[in-house]
Amino acid sequence: MRNIALLTSGGDSPGMNAAIRAVVRTSINRGLNVLGINRGFSGLINGDIIEMNMSSVADIIHRGGTILKTARSEEFKTDEGLRKALNIAGVFKIDGLIVIGGDGSFRGAEKLCENGIPCIGIPGTIDNDLAYTDYTIGFDTAVNNVLDSINKIRDTSNSHERVTIIEVMGRNSGDIALYAGLAGGAETIIIPEVSYSIDDICKRLIEGKNRNKLYSIIVLAEGVGKATDIAEEIHEKINIEVRATILGYIQRGGNPTAFDRILASRLGSRAVELLMENKSNRVVGIKDNHIIDLQIEEALSIEKKFQTELYDLANVLSNSKYEVPGRKI
Ligand code: F6P
Repeated sequence: MRNIALLTSGGDSPGMNAAIRAVVRTSINRGLNVLGINRGFSGLINGDIIEMNMSSVADIIHRGGTILKTARSEEFKTDEGLRKALNIAGVFKIDGLIVIGGDGSFRGAEKLCENGIPCIGIPGTIDNDLAYTDYTIGFDTAVNNVLDSINKIRDTSNSHERVTIIEVMGRNSGDIALYAGLAGGAETIIIPEVSYSIDDICKRLIEGKNRNKLYSIIVLAEGVGKATDIAEEIHEKINIEVRATILGYIQRGGNPTAFDRILASRLGSRAVELLMENKSNRVVGIKDNHIIDLQIEEALSIEKKFQTELYDLANVLSNSKYEVPGRKI
C-alpha cells in the first residue's frame, strides 16, 4: 500500500472535511501518498485528481461541506463508467480507496472492490440511515441545525398563537425529526417509522387549545410527505391557523459539532489503518462508542431498529394522554 485515494460522494454532510483531514494526515503520518479525487465517482472517471499534503487539509476541520466537492454519478453505475474509473485508478496507481458517503456510495465502493481496488467506506450522511453504525457523520450537526430553527420558530409561533409544521430532511429515515423533535420539545413528531392519523393530531391540538396551549410545533420527516399538505389537511378539518416551514438545505450546512468532528477524525484514521492491514470491502462505524468495521454487504443488509423508546418519550413529555404501546400501567 503506497498510494491511497479518497473521495466524498452523495449528499454532503458536516464533518466530511474533518474525515478528509484525518485520512490525509493519518496517511502521511504512516508514510503513504494521498490523492484527493474531486466530485466523487465522476471525478474518478474523469481523472479529476489532486495530490494532497498536510497543508491541503489545514483550516478545514471546522468547515461544513466537503473541500473535495461531491456528486451523484449516474455514469459510474454503467459498465462503461466503471471501466473508465478502473482505467484511471490504474493510471494513477491507486492502491486503496476511501469513500466517504452513504449507502449508494458504499455500493460504488463495492463495485470497485469486486474489480480489484481495495476500498473502505466511511459513513457520511445527515440521514443517520445506516443501521450498522449508531451515528453517521453530519447527523449530529443537522439535528442541532434543526434544533436552532425550532427554537426560533417557537418564538414566532408563540407570538401568533398558531401551529407550525416544520419539515426536515432524512430521506426515508425519521431520525433527524425524532432527535430534533425530542430536543426541541415538539408537541408532535411525524416520521416514516410510525403511522400517524390526522384525526389524532387534530384532537391533540384541540385538547391543547382547551388547556390554553395556543401554539404548537409539529416536526415532520420528509419521508412521510409534504408539510404544506398536512398543514392544509389540519386547517380543513379543524379550521385553525397552521403554517408550514421547510428547512431544506440549511440543515446540511454549517460548522460541524464537536461530536461530528471527533467521530469523523476517529473513523477517518481507522479507515487508513484498515487499508494498511490489507483489509478491503469494509465500512467503519461506531457502536457503543467503539470504532467498528464490517463487510460492506453485511453492513448494508442490517435492518435499522427503530428507537421506540425515544419516540414514546417525546410523546409522553408532550402529551399527558399518550399511551405507550405495551405499557402495563
Ligand atoms: O441524503 C442526504 C439528503 O440531504 C437527504 O436528507 C435529502 O432527501 C437529500 O439528500 C437531498 O438530496 P439533493 O442534494 O440531491 O437535493
